[in-house]
Amino acid sequence: MFGLFSKKKKEPQEIFDYDFVSVDMHSHVLPGIDDGAQSVEESVVLIREMVALGIKKIIATPHIMADYYKNNATTINTALNTLTEHLKTENIDIAIQAAAEHYYDEFFTKLIDNNELMLINNQYVLFELAFTSKPPNVIYTIQKITDKGLTPILAHPERYPYLTLQEAESMRSWGCRIQLNAISLTGYYGKEVKKSAETLVDAGMVDYISSDMHHPRHAHAFKTALQTPYLKKLKDEGNLQNIHLL
Ligand SMILES: [Fe+2]
Repeated sequence: MFGLFSKKKKEPQEIFDYDFVSVDMHSHVLPGIDDGAQSVEESVVLIREMVALGIKKIIATPHIMADYYKNNATTINTALNTLTEHLKTENIDIAIQAAAEHYYDEFFTKLIDNNELMLINNQYVLFELAFTSKPPNVIYTIQKITDKGLTPILAHPERYPYLTLQEAESMRSWGCRIQLNAISLTGYYGKEVKKSAETLVDAGMVDYISSDMHHPRHAHAFKTALQTPYLKKLKDEGNLQNIHLL
């Protein structure tokens, strides 16, 4: 009977912000060029949330997809300039840069071959795979990128239902880094994605985390993610590389 009716004292949840991450390197906050923010006003709403949560630098990564979002250096840099000017008028003090989230399609191969990738810090290539089925030649493409002295980063592997841990490990062994969406840890994309995200954390395979922010619901989940034990685990283990992108 001992303790049966005694109320367990609730441990206070540690509150922390994204200061330990500092650099959000995957988001869709540039206005009007993909499925993220559609105007500078919408961009500002998202960016204010990120600043409030301790983000010090944003690397915006609009989609480049041959079939849907035909972005390039011109469309991306124009949107970046528009946003930067607007942030000044709003007195929002945050470092903001632009790269891209490259979709793995035949156009991506062309951009690699023609040295037209939109790089993070002149070094990193953020790319995503199809959500439905595994594309061909991924390891070969990773090798093509690393042969150029660049570092590929796979966006949100936890969201590809076909991708096994072994395949992600293999990609990583070929020099591909792994970026987890912080909001995956909240169950935002469902239980399976949450489980996959936790498995990647447990396997010590997460190199970067980011918001992948498109709209205010993502901002809300990004805040909620701070309360998850797995985000705390990532913080405590200290292996995240985001801060090196400052
Ligand atoms: Fe994204």
